[in-house]
Amino acid sequence: MNDINILAIESSCDETAAAVIKNGRQILSNVINSQVPIHTRYGGVVPELASRKHIQNINPVIRQALSDASLTLDDIDAVAVTYGPGLVGALLVGVSAAKAIAYAAKKPLIAVNHIEGHVCANFLEHPELEPPFLCLIVSGGHTHIAVMKDYGQFEIIGSTRDDAAGEAFDKVARAIGLGYPGGPKIELAAREGDSSAISFPRGKIDEAPYDFTFSGLKSAVLNFLNQKQMAKEEINTADVAASFQQAVVDSLVERAIKAAKDFGEKRIVLAGGVAANGALRGALLSECENNNIRLFSPSPALCTDNAAMIGSAAYYHYLKKDFFSLELNAVPNLSL
Ligand code: KG4
Ligand code: ZN
Repeated sequence: MNDINILAIESSCDETAAAVIKNGRQILSNVINSQVPIHTRYGGVVPELASRKHIQNINPVIRQALSDASLTLDDIDAVAVTYGPGLVGALLVGVSAAKAIAYAAKKPLIAVNHIEGHVCANFLEHPELEPPFLCLIVSGGHTHIAVMKDYGQFEIIGSTRDDAAGEAFDKVARAIGLGYPGGPKIELAAREGDSSAISFPRGKIDEAPYDFTFSGLKSAVLNFLNQKQMAKEEINTADVAASFQQAVVDSLVERAIKAAKDFGEKRIVLAGGVAANGALRGALLSECENNNIRLFSPSPALCTDNAAMIGSAAYYHYLKKDFFSLELNAVPNLSL
């Protein structure tokens, strides 16, 4: 079979990204224009600003991705785009650009679920990895344990009942004055702290052993901060960050290992922005080793939002001729 080159576009949140991926596994280019410096001023992503910035950046980012791959649109076999979940205005910029290019260049259009894309980031660095496998998906909006049964096919085993893991990182970072983006800032602060300094709860749902809950943990951190402030006691930010991070890591690792054992899975595939967290990666790796489970994870740069992962996911839709018409719309609450 000829090589298949897919131009992929991602604009679901605050990164404008485009990539060219060969045969679903090889990155020919991967361009990311991050809006972090813009949203930092506001303490979080401002959806209206994100859409405007995507509009400014999308064409240059796509042009750069083609040029970095030393290809033109003629060499592209399909155009892929994230169509959800995400911010509607942000998604629409990528979807509109992809539709316009697919129409003008007469190429098939492939719509990709962003969460599926996160899992597929692993295919870019682990050539031997093929489904079925168990995955732990931890992003800013989602936290799932799922089985990827086949390419594009998932069965969810557990999910968060309230906040996503990344959302908890972002909210706690704001509360302790670290600002946006919360995850990397908590990780950095936690390196100077003692993870056993404060005993924060590890939320559990008795009747649903693979489900997560982080709202109790978030409230416990807020209560701790309030009590300290009322008593006019000094707050050790590093200890709070480290103790909070440890509670999240413990919850994630315990459920993922339990699911792997219960379902007889010998592989765990980690995915999503929170997968960039070194404490999570380290703790999960050591528990996997103790239980004879093989852990796969993308390198940190491919854990957070990018278009390369969308191009990988899209390849397997391409093989099934799973193409979308130009009627494609953004689906902000798309599920896995
Ligand atoms: O997957 P992602 O880039 O976007 C979504 O699809 O949501 O994930 C973003 C989330 C944010 O909540 C961010 O704080 C978190 O991932 N994150 C991290 C780290 N890097 C990003 N959380 C913990 N530690 C990190 N190093
Ligand atoms: Zn994401």
